[in-house]
Amino acid sequence: MTNYQLKSYEEYQEAYQRSVEDPEGFWGEIADTFTWRKKWDRVLEWNFEEPNVKWFQGGKMNITENCLDRHLKTRGNKLALIWEPNDPKERFIRYTYRELHEKVCQFANVLKKNGAKKGDRICIYMPMIPELAIAVLACARIGAVHSVVFAGFSALSMADRINDAQCNMVLTSDGLNRGAKQIPVKRVVDEALENCPSVERVIVVERLGWAVNMVEGRDVWFHEEVKGVSKDCPAEEMDAEDMLFILYTSGSTGKPKGVVHTCGGYMVYAQYSFLNVFQYQESDIYWCTADIGWVTGHTYLLYGPLLSGATTLMFEGVPTYPDNGRFWQVCDKFGVTIFYTAPTAIRSLMAGDIDDVLSYSLDSLKVLGSVGEPINEEAWHWYHTHVGKERCPVVDTWWQTETGGIMISTIAGVTPMKPGHAALPLPGIQPILVDSEGNEITENGVEGYLCMKFPWPGMIRTTYGDHERARLSYFSTYKDLYFTGDGAKRDENGLYRIIGRVDDVINVSGHRFGTAEIEEAINHNEHVVESAVVGYPHDVKGQGIYAFVIIKDKPEKEEYLRAEIIETVVEKIGKIARPDKIQIVSGLPKTRSGKIMRRILRKVAEGDTSNLGDTSTLLDPDVVDEIKAGAL
Ligand code: WTA
Repeated sequence: MTNYQLKSYEEYQEAYQRSVEDPEGFWGEIADTFTWRKKWDRVLEWNFEEPNVKWFQGGKMNITENCLDRHLKTRGNKLALIWEPNDPKERFIRYTYRELHEKVCQFANVLKKNGAKKGDRICIYMPMIPELAIAVLACARIGAVHSVVFAGFSALSMADRINDAQCNMVLTSDGLNRGAKQIPVKRVVDEALENCPSVERVIVVERLGWAVNMVEGRDVWFHEEVKGVSKDCPAEEMDAEDMLFILYTSGSTGKPKGVVHTCGGYMVYAQYSFLNVFQYQESDIYWCTADIGWVTGHTYLLYGPLLSGATTLMFEGVPTYPDNGRFWQVCDKFGVTIFYTAPTAIRSLMAGDIDDVLSYSLDSLKVLGSVGEPINEEAWHWYHTHVGKERCPVVDTWWQTETGGIMISTIAGVTPMKPGHAALPLPGIQPILVDSEGNEITENGVEGYLCMKFPWPGMIRTTYGDHERARLSYFSTYKDLYFTGDGAKRDENGLYRIIGRVDDVINVSGHRFGTAEIEEAINHNEHVVESAVVGYPHDVKGQGIYAFVIIKDKPEKEEYLRAEIIETVVEKIGKIARPDKIQIVSGLPKTRSGKIMRRILRKVAEGDTSNLGDTSTLLDPDVVDEIKAGAL
């Protein structure tokens, strides 16, 4: 184990102080423990104005050499990946570090054989099968930029992402398993590619054994391509600041942004944060339930654990199939010691029978983690009591696609833990709270907008193809600060509690959607004139989607129209963004300048209409009464 794992609160305090006083020395020493082909010329160069952030410039490396090759001597026969299928009766798959290394090299050679090269963007639209993990690493091996698109997104969403990044290759599967359902993945890809001229090759992995349409000259089967292909593939040499991946995420506007991460800094930060937050030990069996389609899957299912030489578990299914005990059954089956999941999963299981948890021993568990949205105290206590048996620390990890890794979190057993609180920043992370003018609030027991005043190695470098968008989204709200888009409280002891988004982003089951993005989708329905979408508290999802919709003519049956609108959203974005409530209205509360007063809509959606504030300045104050009366 590398010696930068913090073992006590004193060590944390020391490391934190050092990281602020001498960031370059601090991160330089940590980076030194990795495998570099050539050492960097300079640890850090930065300004938040452009922004321009460069870590370990001039350093040459490949992240897969650090995830795989460097472990072969000491951990060659150790398990790297355990894959548990959707169906508990199907056999699980295990790969040692040596085997995973071979699989990745072989896949990388298949990519090369099909024309992929350094710098190409490759879209990966695959379910949670071992080939997804292998494909991601294979891209990194040859220096191609992976852009993983969650396999629940619609064809149109995929097409947008492919076109934005100008991907020339798509890696996918014939279909996928999800609980009792099977879904035709390749069909979605075919639909998307009708509008993606840049794609020249599609490699299809067989999962269900379905006969699928294969386009001559474009589509090939992985199992045919891999025949006779070498398991040896030297890693491409990358500069620390070369692009590693793009991951799309929603912001305040309709169009998702391609968040860009680079090789060196991301690598260092992924391992550092993984080792510390979860207090990973060599013999641990680690399970992160996130899909690789989201950033949590990138950093804490794949890169962080593999960089650390850990055994990482990957699960194809859902927490409720075949029953509500599946997570716990899998924990017992493999002796999982560290378990990392989302509050929404905890809340959905909480609603079920308590015996679904209590009938498993869960003896092996040592550390529990939570990510993606604020964890309410009830869910925190349920998790801590029934899953962790009050024996396991719960780390509430706050971070974002843009931050690359965990930023504010309890370090298990080392730094303070408080229900509902992410607590303290990791060493190297300098959060501040500001007021609406951007002035720093220095006291404790306060609330403000959460910003970062100093760069960290895992941070976003740009938004793909549009650097100005990155500047405007994150670095222009407050001068010389990275703005997270979140509001937060800091208690009397300096512990942070993240409240949630303060921009027009809704967090549904830990997944981000811009209200503008959903409105744009709804407005595509031919009956819709205009719409406004807000979030509202939802027992399981954290936030639900509430849509206020103005339509052209009164429909015969509102139910049909609602179903149709939902269908439009599913088609444009995907099932995960379907509105929970749709209220048909004749107008929206607008200011005289035409701006929708979302504050009022949010109150209505929350069911709190007692005090809507001053509505007299609205263009049409009467519309508020109508909306109130029709609230769902
Ligand atoms: C929210 C997921 C409270 C937050 C890693 C953030 C959280 C957004 C937490 C990022 C947490 C994430 N407590 N809120 N522990 N973790 N969030 O990009 O609003 O999918 O800005 O990254 O999720 O979501 P993203």
